[in-house]
Amino acid sequence: MFFESLSSAPHDPIMALSSLCLQDTRSQKLDLGIGVYRNALGQTPVFDAVKAAEQSLVAAQDSKAYVGMQGHLGFNRAMTSLILGEQWETSRVRTLQTPGASGALRLLADLIARTNADATIWLSDPSYTNHEPIFRAAGLDVRYYPYFDAATKQVNSDAMIAQLSQLGTNDVVVLHGCCHNPTGADMSLELWQQVTELSLKTGFLPFIDMAYQGFGRSLEEDAQGTRYLTTRVPSFLLASSCSKNFGLYRERVGVAMMAGHSEKASDSMLSQLLSLARNSYTMPPDHGAAIVAAILSYESLKASWQAELSHMTQHIQNTRKQLRQALEHRFNRDYSFIEQHQGMFSMLGIDTDSVHRLRTQKAIYLLDNGRLNLAGLAPSQIEYFADSLFAVERMQ
Ligand SMILES: Cc1ncc(COP(=O)(O)O)c(C=O)c1O
Repeated sequence: MFFESLSSAPHDPIMALSSLCLQDTRSQKLDLGIGVYRNALGQTPVFDAVKAAEQSLVAAQDSKAYVGMQGHLGFNRAMTSLILGEQWETSRVRTLQTPGASGALRLLADLIARTNADATIWLSDPSYTNHEPIFRAAGLDVRYYPYFDAATKQVNSDAMIAQLSQLGTNDVVVLHGCCHNPTGADMSLELWQQVTELSLKTGFLPFIDMAYQGFGRSLEEDAQGTRYLTTRVPSFLLASSCSKNFGLYRERVGVAMMAGHSEKASDSMLSQLLSLARNSYTMPPDHGAAIVAAILSYESLKASWQAELSHMTQHIQNTRKQLRQALEHRFNRDYSFIEQHQGMFSMLGIDTDSVHRLRTQKAIYLLDNGRLNLAGLAPSQIEYFADSLFAVERMQ
């Protein structure tokens, strides 16, 4: 009998935490687990530009016929420019619209497995919790390179470079484009340059995951490392998301991008990716991608989107500043790294026992690894969070 002896799949840690928090009835609860932006009122609003684009799309749309295997071509072009800058026009880059960055990660993982089933995927230690399961689901071997130094709360460049210099043509190195998840510690441009040199020397394939462009310094600065690398290496893979920087989480919008060493190689990569998509979901959902294409092609919508995005980034930076002050005031130690980290997340060095105490005693939800979503912390909650952390750390 089918499914008779089937056991349940393991819980995804982020989704499991989110539903635990939903069930919690304590009024002061704080969900600092899931990577969703919230404003000072605790809301995840729809961008004004998204609303405007959506209304005009709905009014103008006269068909729901299939769009095409590659998705919305205008969206693909606009996203490629947004991420790679204008240089891509003359390059070997191919882009495919995907259901979120998750869809892109899985398709590209399958592409690697199709080309080289013995490839090893190297993830930063630590990395986004879903990276390892996605690559393993594609049948690939996964290992970790040193990345975050828990003592300094910065990237351990020397250890990372030492590990990457041992790699070769069988290896794929996953790099976070910006706003590293979960640590918030980003690679400097100098480190991107060193990694590029190493890739050219050893032949490992760089695979960039760009899920937070615009959430760190700015749209342009957050793409600096990616642009440096992609203009120099013969081949790369890239997954990107519009969940956060366009606030289109549930619409499932992203891209898979790739370049081979020649036009012909790039075309083969794209055709393999299209066949992988055809064998699973066939075509990506249109609505979110059509919104992004509209925003990126109309100056007024684009300006409104950029202003709202930089307002959000500013809000996170203010939260970082206030949290640093609140913690330094209580713990009497240096928390300047909180302001140096980029994007939604930081790892403050909270151990699992304290994470659990925060959850059970204070109704504060963080991932077990201590990742904190600062974009989920409203200004009015900072003092409560700092007091609670101080209280649970003193219990040790
Ligand atoms: C690093 C990273 N990659 C990929 C994703 C998946 O994003 P999407 O919602 O576009 O599937 C996330 C989402 O949190 C992420 O943090």
